[in-house]
Amino acid sequence: MKLSVIGCGYLGAVHAAAMASIGHEVIGIDVDAAKVESLSRGDAPFFEPGLGDLLRAGVDSGRLRFTTDMAGAAGSAVHFVAVGTPQRRDGAGADLTFVDAAVNALLPHLGPDDLVVGKSTVPVGTAQRLQPLVEERGASIAWNPEFLREGFAVKDTLEPDRLVYGVGGQTSDRDVATLDEVYAPAMATGTPRIVTDYATAELVKVSANAFLATKISFINAMAEIAEATGADVTMLADAIGHDARIGRRFLNAGVGFGGGCLPKDIRAFAARAEEIGRGESVQFLKQVDEINLRRRQRVVDLIVDSFDGSPNGRRVVVLGLAFKPDSDDTRDSPALDVAVRLHGLGADVVCTDPEAIGNAQRQHPQLSYVADVEESLQGAEAVVLVTEWSVYRHLDPARVGELVARRVMVDGRNCLDPVAWRDEGWTYFGLGRP
Ligand code: UGA
Repeated sequence: MKLSVIGCGYLGAVHAAAMASIGHEVIGIDVDAAKVESLSRGDAPFFEPGLGDLLRAGVDSGRLRFTTDMAGAAGSAVHFVAVGTPQRRDGAGADLTFVDAAVNALLPHLGPDDLVVGKSTVPVGTAQRLQPLVEERGASIAWNPEFLREGFAVKDTLEPDRLVYGVGGQTSDRDVATLDEVYAPAMATGTPRIVTDYATAELVKVSANAFLATKISFINAMAEIAEATGADVTMLADAIGHDARIGRRFLNAGVGFGGGCLPKDIRAFAARAEEIGRGESVQFLKQVDEINLRRRQRVVDLIVDSFDGSPNGRRVVVLGLAFKPDSDDTRDSPALDVAVRLHGLGADVVCTDPEAIGNAQRQHPQLSYVADVEESLQGAEAVVLVTEWSVYRHLDPARVGELVARRVMVDGRNCLDPVAWRDEGWTYFGLGRP
């Protein structure tokens, strides 16, 4: 099929490459000329395992092209809208400027019977609002949320654990058949597919992210209780996780969640709920947010306490800047936030990360960055691990002990073995661990 993908960020670039890899003819459209140029060469403009290979294969096959010109969408049967919906600058709600701009720019290029498919995460009610604009052109609109995780984006796009189609209007059956054809390989392997209305599809996405955020903040709340009682939250998570109704995944206590999705999605959800008069239904999301932000401060406090309250001029090495491993994304990253807070307290902060230094440097040029992990650790008076990259999880406490000036480790991801580190003379602090 001929497809267009409007917006070539994490979501759109991966979607475009994945769709080309299963045989569709795809044009990716983005307003950012530098990004389009990079993608056209088959170079991923951000770090995502497997994406570079998929892009190059697509571009070489001739089935994957990129342009800044919206006219390139003409002739495609399906148009995916995959632009960002960041948090508004002036509030907690989602900024829909890019969605509205993309759809309005697309309208003149729509043919009758075309299908516009929203993939962006939007407040409930967005598809219904856009429907008349699209239908005026003889086309139709569906909402098909995306559940990919950064770091696993290619796999999650090609092998989703479910497909959700929100449809409306007279052409619903035909639109469902069109989407089934787009996703034919996933359909052939029996991927569950839920066909529903617009509002449900939009809410599936935000409620999934709200649930995940709540699960993380729940275990981080238990970490706070564990800290007050001498209990061990990692053992608690293992024990409750054996109950299949609870499950062990997403129960890792630590410095909390960040990234371009969970934090802004729970805020946008709460803001939208207020708008529709149901603020109290998701009021708990404010606490989920607060618990999450408190954990960042807890990591900072552990470092400050290790210096008896005076971190001024003391060398602190921050291991990790990305919001999670296997990503170079520093949007709302707890790791970067911890580094900035420590710097603000006068500490001599040195940051390292395998992939995210470039992005962090653009956001916070005031921090010091060292790419090589061993070099960064030289002379450290405290080390704080805030992104659990494999290379940090496998650090040798004896070797690191030779590099640092003082053996203090704050494990903000509870990913190190406290016994192994203490045996090498380290003062080890986890979160919610004795
Ligand atoms: C999240 C969702 O997991 C995806 O399903 C969704 O499609 C995506 O947002 C989106 O809306 O686009 P992502 O932002 O890539 O994906 O990251 P996650 O893997 O969900 O991790 C989010 C944060 O939670 C990270 O900072 C991670 O370190 C933290 N986390 C995760 C914990 O602190 N504890 C855990 O147990 C798990």
